[in-house]
Amino acid sequence: MKQSILDKPHSGRGQNSVFDREFCVDGIEFELPGLREDPLGLPDLTEVEVVRHFTELTRESYGVDNGSYPLGSCTMKYNPKRNDKLAALPGFQRVHPGQPAETMRGIWRVMYELQLMLNEILGMDAFSLQPAAGANGELAGLFIKKYFDVKKEKDRKVILVADSAHGTNPASATMAGFDCRIISTNESGTMDLEDLRSNLRPDVAALMLTNPSTLGLFETNITEIAGLIHANGSLLYYDGANLNALMGIVRPGDMGFDVVHINTHKTLSTPHSGGGPGAGPVGVKKFLQAYLPGPVADYDGEDYFPSVDKEFSIGRMKSGFGHFDVLVKAYCYILTNGPDGLKECSENAVLNANYLQAGLRDIIPPVFDRLCMHECLLNGDLLRISAYSFAKRLIDYKVHPPTLVGAGCVYFSDDLGSAILIEPTETETKADLDRIVSVFKMVWDEVLHDAEFVNNAPYSREISKVPMASKEVI
Ligand SMILES: Cc1ncc(COP(=O)(O)O)c(C=O)c1O
Repeated sequence: MKQSILDKPHSGRGQNSVFDREFCVDGIEFELPGLREDPLGLPDLTEVEVVRHFTELTRESYGVDNGSYPLGSCTMKYNPKRNDKLAALPGFQRVHPGQPAETMRGIWRVMYELQLMLNEILGMDAFSLQPAAGANGELAGLFIKKYFDVKKEKDRKVILVADSAHGTNPASATMAGFDCRIISTNESGTMDLEDLRSNLRPDVAALMLTNPSTLGLFETNITEIAGLIHANGSLLYYDGANLNALMGIVRPGDMGFDVVHINTHKTLSTPHSGGGPGAGPVGVKKFLQAYLPGPVADYDGEDYFPSVDKEFSIGRMKSGFGHFDVLVKAYCYILTNGPDGLKECSENAVLNANYLQAGLRDIIPPVFDRLCMHECLLNGDLLRISAYSFAKRLIDYKVHPPTLVGAGCVYFSDDLGSAILIEPTETETKADLDRIVSVFKMVWDEVLHDAEFVNNAPYSREISKVPMASKEVI
């Protein structure tokens, strides 16, 4: 009887072509299950036609390599191509996670050293590089559930989340089995401490907080908040997606955070677009180290190796070692910039956002009139058309629409009305920033002269918007 190829190890195919339906190895006949009988109906094209087709498609997509991409909260910064090349070195790329650990010492060394660097940058004691992206890091960091189970405080079932939080925070908390309570923001854009106090009850496991927040503002009361959380026996969780504003300036660990995750793809190299790939290392203070997902990289003074999971480890978040190529890029980014360079990145990210905030305030003033951090939140209610339509017209001038916040936007607070969140990042030059300001002003002038025309933009792309009804014009 013929056996299915699925019963035979991959390497046993011998001389047979992989396209043969039936073939024989070591005297046993195999057949490939599910192989199509008729040829695939692919178009008959020359190489040059295929190349032109795909080149044309790449022209239709837009990224930081094409022009400004000031997408608030998503940090589309230019990342050095050199890091891609380094991550593609054969010694990094041609390894198999299943090969013996002693043949991968270099890999474990990179990961071990990256863990140490992240400890230093964030002020934490231990890191796991396992999670695949920010949201995955949040889910891992919410091992907080297990921590309280082990402590026999199972009634701590609530995670507090700021109303300005990124949507992944309440989503991750819910996935981890918690209930969420939302804490409001006050008129100055920081957390309402009265609301926080009134929600701090024995059932609270942790507060998840982003600092700077997704409103682009530094949480100035952070040490008081940490004191309140810890006095309640709860933990303070840091969503480090906005670390790009803080490197070398202030550390979450020193602010009182117990658990952190970061988005390497927003801060430490790796182009972040189209949903990935990324990495979301999760870091902890010493007393939580035993809960980290594994394997983590270890060093015994002679050798680098994957450590055996600690007592309460939540296990793996990813197969293999996580997104290793992304981790290599983060490692290279940190080494090439060094401590002073990383600080300069953050300082320039903050400077650039404030430059834009100042340059645009005549037409779109900030929602909170104070210095912003790496992104600025501008009041879209004052535009004479919807912020959505305004943003779409920017496309015609090769400025990617910024993030729209509030009404009609799915993952930020509705209480803000309509707002525009702009994050220029440190990689834009002064000339780029001046161009962004002048494009906004040009569109503003267009609105004054012919709002209907702007409403129906963009005009330069293959696909345009369904024409808006004239009531869209305010
Ligand atoms: C503040 C914040 N938290 C979490 C995330 C989620 O990160 P990821 O998209 O890598 O899952 C983001 C993503 O932009 C973010 O801005």
